[in-house]
Amino acid sequence: MKGTAALSSFLAAALLVVACSRDEATSEPVAMPEPVVAAEPAIDPVTGFKVTGDWEIVRANCVACHSAKLITQQRGSAQQWLTMIRWMQKKQNLWQFDPVTEEKIITYLAENYPPSDAQRRAALPPDLMPPNPYSMEN
Ligand code: HEC
Repeated sequence: MKGTAALSSFLAAALLVVACSRDEATSEPVAMPEPVVAAEPAIDPVTGFKVTGDWEIVRANCVACHSAKLITQQRGSAQQWLTMIRWMQKKQNLWQFDPVTEEKIITYLAENYPPSDAQRRAALPPDLMPPNPYSMEN
């Protein structure tokens, strides 16, 4: 009886060793670590805005009148974004911002949607625009 018990525990141990070494032999090669790339910010599923920085201030102020797509497909420097905002304030009833809020909005836009060669050209300055035949103002 004693012999049988010793034998079976020996067999069990032997099996374990075989199983383990087999396992090792058939296991996949160790994966190389992923190359480190700067993480892209997440995209807000509702607006499509990049979820970073002061994006919530932009969401709170910039999607009341039109789709956020109008913004995310646009590109511009800080100055170009400011010009667009001033145009909306003058012509489209966009409200005034306090300087701190305005700075945060412009920074977010210029950092996340900066000028790009692949984009459409910048808007013409107003004095180079052809007259608008539908305008009620002139
Ligand atoms: C009070 C309404 C209103 C709000 C709020 C508003 N916009 Fe606009 N925006 C407009 C109108 C109206 C247009 C013209 C839409 C069109 O051409 O169909 C426009 C157009 C745009 C365009 C397209 C400009 C172009 O040259 O094609 C961009 C970009 C834009 N808005 C960005 C913003 C950003 C950024 C904010 C937040 C700071 C904002 N909008 C908030 C009214 C608004």
